[in-house]
Formats: sequence, C-alpha cells, structure tokens
Amino acid sequence: MGLLPEIETRVSTREYTSEPVGDEVVSRVLEAGRLAPSAKNRQSWRFVVVTDEKVRKKIEDAAFGQEYVGMAPVVIALCTTNIEYKMPNGQLSYPIDLSFAASFMMLQATHEGLGSCLVTTFREDDVKSILTVPYSMRVVMLLTIGHAQERPERLQRLPMERVVSFNHW
Ligand SMILES: Cc1cc2nc3c(=O)[nH]c(=O)nc-3n(C[C@H](O)[C@H](O)[C@H](O)COP(=O)(O)O)c2cc1C
Repeated sequence: MGLLPEIETRVSTREYTSEPVGDEVVSRVLEAGRLAPSAKNRQSWRFVVVTDEKVRKKIEDAAFGQEYVGMAPVVIALCTTNIEYKMPNGQLSYPIDLSFAASFMMLQATHEGLGSCLVTTFREDDVKSILTVPYSMRVVMLLTIGHAQERPERLQRLPMERVVSFNHW
C-alpha cells in the first residue's frame, strides 16, 4: 500500500466529459496549490483559472491545437510572479515552486475523483496574451482538470533499484 491512494491512482487524463466541475471542487484544488511549499515561503505565484469555453478554445490553439486542452472544463495556468529568485544551490526556484503547487493540485483533483494533466506544450507568449499575463511574468505550466471519459492505463515506472541508491551514486 502506498501512503496515499491518490498517488497510486493519479494518471494523466487527456479525454474529458463535458460535465462541469463544481466551484467548490475547483476551490479545494486551488487551496491545495495555495498551501504547497515554496522556496523561502515566497509564494511567488498566481493561478489563473480558465473556465470560459471561448478562452479555453484559445488556450487550446496556443497549445498547438491539442484537443484535450480545450475539452477540459477547467484549465489552470500556473504562473510565476518572480523569474529571478535563485535558491542557495544556485538554481531557479520558480519551476520547482510551481511544480509543487501543480502536484498538490493534481492530488486534490484525484481525491475529488477528477482527471488532470500537466501541459507544457504551448506557446507561452500566446497564453500570456490570452490571459493578459504581465510581460515580466511567466506561464510555467497549464493544468487541465475534468471528469475523465475513461480511466487511462497507469504507465509503468522504473524499478526502485534503477532510481535509488544508498550512500553513493
Ligand atoms: C514537467 C511535465 C511536463 C509535462 N508536459 C506535458 C505536456 O505538455 N503534454 C502532455 O500531454 N503531458 C505532459 N506531461 C504529462 C506526462 O507526459 C506524464 O506525467 C507522464 O507520461 C507519466 O504519465 P502519468 O502522468 O499518467 O503517470 C507532463 C508532465 C510533467 C511532469
């Protein structure tokens, strides 16, 4: 048994029904992201929720016409409000911060019985323009959320011994 059934059951969902997602459910998904950790607790993020069908279709176009992006009743654009802050290890914090927020949102979406998919295949400038994201900020990823048409197959992961070692590489 895994620690969380949500971790074991989450799969990327790329086919959604037209059933809307309730506002309270969307709020809980956003709350999960809001509570996610970030470097120095800076929370340099903004989550732009897209439910309007016309706007979703524009986002679909910006995502190279991938149908599932417009098909999902909710698309959350995870944006950073700071593209410069580096952590003590010299690495940029924003891709990591936003990944935690997205992970927490995906797990809450799974808990709510919804499918979700992270999307990074999009023209960022187009999405920025559609959502009026300020020039100096970035749209790091999109998260589609909705009721899955079918539960997709779970993809295999590498075996533990390939990805874990103890005390040396
Ligand atoms: C950083 C990141 C970027 C991703 N970008 C895309 C994407 O642009 N389009 C897409 O369909 N899936 C995308 N995915 C989903 C992955 O393809 C998926 O998580 C992976 O194949 C494992 O499948 P699973 O999520 O069903 O376990 C992305 C996932 C991550 C973590």
